[in-house]
Amino acid sequence: MTNSHSWQTLYINVNLATMTDGGNSYGEVNQGALAIAEGKIVWLGKEADLPSYDASKVKVIDGKSQWLSPGLIDCHTHLVYGGNRANEFEMRLQGKSYQEIANAGGGIVSTVTATRKASEQELLASALPRLTALHQQGVTTVEIKSGYGLDTVNEIKMLKVAGLLADELPVTIKRTFLGAHALPTEYKDDADGYLDIVCNEMLPQVVNENLADAVDVFCEGIGFSLAQTKRVFEAAASYNLPIKVHAEQLSNLGASELAANYDALSSDHIEFLDEAGIKAMKKSGMTAVLLPGAFYFLRETQLPPIDLLRQYQVPMAIATDANPGTSPIHNIHLMLNMACTLFKLTPSEALAGITCYGAKALGLDMSKGQLAVGFDADIALWNIDQPAELCYQFGVNPLSALYQAGKQVI
Ligand code: NIG
Ligand code: FE
Repeated sequence: MTNSHSWQTLYINVNLATMTDGGNSYGEVNQGALAIAEGKIVWLGKEADLPSYDASKVKVIDGKSQWLSPGLIDCHTHLVYGGNRANEFEMRLQGKSYQEIANAGGGIVSTVTATRKASEQELLASALPRLTALHQQGVTTVEIKSGYGLDTVNEIKMLKVAGLLADELPVTIKRTFLGAHALPTEYKDDADGYLDIVCNEMLPQVVNENLADAVDVFCEGIGFSLAQTKRVFEAAASYNLPIKVHAEQLSNLGASELAANYDALSSDHIEFLDEAGIKAMKKSGMTAVLLPGAFYFLRETQLPPIDLLRQYQVPMAIATDANPGTSPIHNIHLMLNMACTLFKLTPSEALAGITCYGAKALGLDMSKGQLAVGFDADIALWNIDQPAELCYQFGVNPLSALYQAGKQVI
């Protein structure tokens, strides 16, 4: 803990949702205070316990009984892409399923065509309003996946654009290489040939240019088989890159269990996850990422196994899954609400899902997602009377101020 003489900003008269208790509670501190120095949280606690400080040297802010929480974390998005899929939305409303549309050459592959056509500048320009929306809702960290290029040049292009977004907005971007998202049409009947390119050409270049923090695979009937997924995990492991997986979204192929063998960070979607998968995830310390936007948008009826995840104490993160096909939703507050209404999470579990456990799903749990001494000063100030309001209503933005690494950005 630093000496109070080095404090730069001090919030007083504020309530804290520290999120240091997992989803069990908000980790509340009422009538609290919080000090920032050099981009980190350096003191927090009851205002009555504040050590003496030199008020002429510190910027003291009266929080007016509002609430501070960690900056929000959206740990699963695909928000860099070309075009949109409103036409498929109409098809689905006429009764076609996501699988039928994918099998007829629509779905992910149609976004691939549009993404390949788009220049870096065009992709950046279309992604910026999506990221801006999240930022204005209090999001300070976003994960962005590739996966709509499906060839070396375009996968690299997507990851570069994702990186460029961090120059445009004060948001920490974590990038995930998702070359194994779908089969491009040129490899229609040759998944193994495509995976040769993913593992032996794309991945080495991604690593060489330091373009990704993790590797993801869409393991599904309309994606890649378990054996194919294993190939990509092996390649990722050989470069010491952490693994994430789109798993058990439409069926249970056992991808979460496989990922657990590779000490993966997270398994995402997981509506069809079973107890064996949950046990394996618990054992290896994985996070379950719940994506209520995709569940809602696809009108899924199979609920993720929330009670079992609770029983085995597998941490649950929540994310937007922002993407053009299954979750064209760029609203993290709506995800909080949906996590509660659709998945029956408690509001404190939901908020943990986009703070401490969102951080854990990205391997950032020692520096982000909690209000704790030594953690990054990514902090949101909310004009609310109680934290559950963040889950209860959406559409009116309660954000009063936002800090990234100690710097006020809103
Ligand atoms: O997370 N499941 C695979 N990937 C995305 C969907 C991408 C798309 O349809 O464009 C998802 O739901
Ligand atoms: Fe996804």
